[in-house]
Amino acid sequence: MPTSESEHQRVDLDWSRMPRHIAIIMDGNGRWAQARNLPRVFGHRQGVLALKPIVKTCARLGVSVLTVYAFSTENWIRPKAEVDALMDLLMEFLRAETAELKMEGVSIRTIGDIAKLPPRARSALQESMRRTANEQRMILNLALNYGGRDELVRAVNRWIQRRDNEALTEETLASYLDTAGLPDPDLLIRSSGEERISNFMLWQIAYAEIYVTKTMWPDFDPEELIKAIRAFQSRTRRFGAVE
Ligand code: IPE
Ligand code: IPE
Ligand code: MG
Repeated sequence: MPTSESEHQRVDLDWSRMPRHIAIIMDGNGRWAQARNLPRVFGHRQGVLALKPIVKTCARLGVSVLTVYAFSTENWIRPKAEVDALMDLLMEFLRAETAELKMEGVSIRTIGDIAKLPPRARSALQESMRRTANEQRMILNLALNYGGRDELVRAVNRWIQRRDNEALTEETLASYLDTAGLPDPDLLIRSSGEERISNFMLWQIAYAEIYVTKTMWPDFDPEELIKAIRAFQSRTRRFGAVE
């Protein structure tokens, strides 16, 4: 729920039709920098700065889960210096922002195979998750070393270990995914204009409304977010039924 009357008035959204879960493919950092003759890493730095107001706005708008694609299973093939810089930025973000996120009632979680992240990044994550574990207002779900196919394969392998000869159902498989217990995304946003999924939440976005904006991620601000939510609210979701 919005936290105050003034927030109701400031943004003309339908409060009865807010997305519960927003997933964002934060794309375009590199191109943002290249367009300014800056190294790609500058774009990533600016991209991290862009994230904070989006997290705060989602929490204040009453969104329950915000999942952001920060590093894919495919991103390891980038130059080592860029991968290292991304890991360092993740740690800087966690160190600088965890206290404030906690004050905003945000609980930090991850999806993806974080066991394969550098130990320094992993321990920073574990510390931030531990410190914010009891927060109830919103979950900030960081997709790190995340690939939808990898997630499905890990889920099925875990299920094989434990199964009792019964057949796999959709509910059971969902309960083995990294997103177990979370609602599926209602709204999937991708910045930078690319109209593809890039291995993000393949199972969970089955019925998500997709919103693509040409805005590069470092320029994606709360105004853009509200535009995306407004577009979401103008859609008719049918889930396979007739209207
Ligand atoms: C998204 O920006 C951030 C990550 C993938 C880590 P990119 O780095 O993909 O930026 P572009 O797509 O090259 O502009
Ligand atoms: C998707 O963006 C991954 C993240 C935003 C972390 P990419 O830039 O890696 O995707 P492609 O390569 O354009 O499909
Ligand atoms: Mg990209």
